[in-house]
Amino acid sequence: MTDKKRVVILISGRGSNMNALIEATKEEDYPAQIVGVISNKEDAPGLELAKAANIPTLVVPPKDTGDRAIDQQLRAWNADIVCLAGFLRILSAPFCKLWHGKIINIHPSLLPEFKGLNTHSRALEAEATEHGCTAHFVVAELDGGPIIGQVAVPVLYDDNATILAERVLKAEHKLYPWALAQIASGDISFNKLS
Ligand code: GRF
Repeated sequence: MTDKKRVVILISGRGSNMNALIEATKEEDYPAQIVGVISNKEDAPGLELAKAANIPTLVVPPKDTGDRAIDQQLRAWNADIVCLAGFLRILSAPFCKLWHGKIINIHPSLLPEFKGLNTHSRALEAEATEHGCTAHFVVAELDGGPIIGQVAVPVLYDDNATILAERVLKAEHKLYPWALAQIASGDISFNKLS
């Protein structure tokens, strides 16, 4: 496939979703390629995984100048799509507007349930019988953009947050490569209304 979309992944930690995307792009007919990985944490273990896969990496400075530095690098790498994969910093509204319809995220809950952090313990506290993950477009409102797809998993009687997180993570690793393929192929899009 010649016209693969150019994808940059933003991480803060271990990078297992990033790795799932890297693995998916190894398929010849996958419609996207990973051209760079950006972390806001210089000790993010995912950076080593990216380097091992020969993908260029960058650590961005914290806070204020961060979004501008990210934008510059995305343009330098000619990015078509930005995938957040455990990126623990909230992107500014101007940045989200600039990259409208091109940024996607994987979130460990069935949105709109449990936006934000600690989703697994909150699902257990709420005695949910079903939990899961969501791939969605990113807008300025936290975890509030249109949903691309979801995978549900059962919550079992003797689950704790760690066991439930593992079950959800397995689902994330299947959902996120699928969701990216939908965006990269143009099968799903999020158009600007104004
Ligand atoms: C995942 O659970 C993802 O849904 C959430 O943060 C976690 C990141 O894990 N946004 P990893 O770095 O992809 O392993």
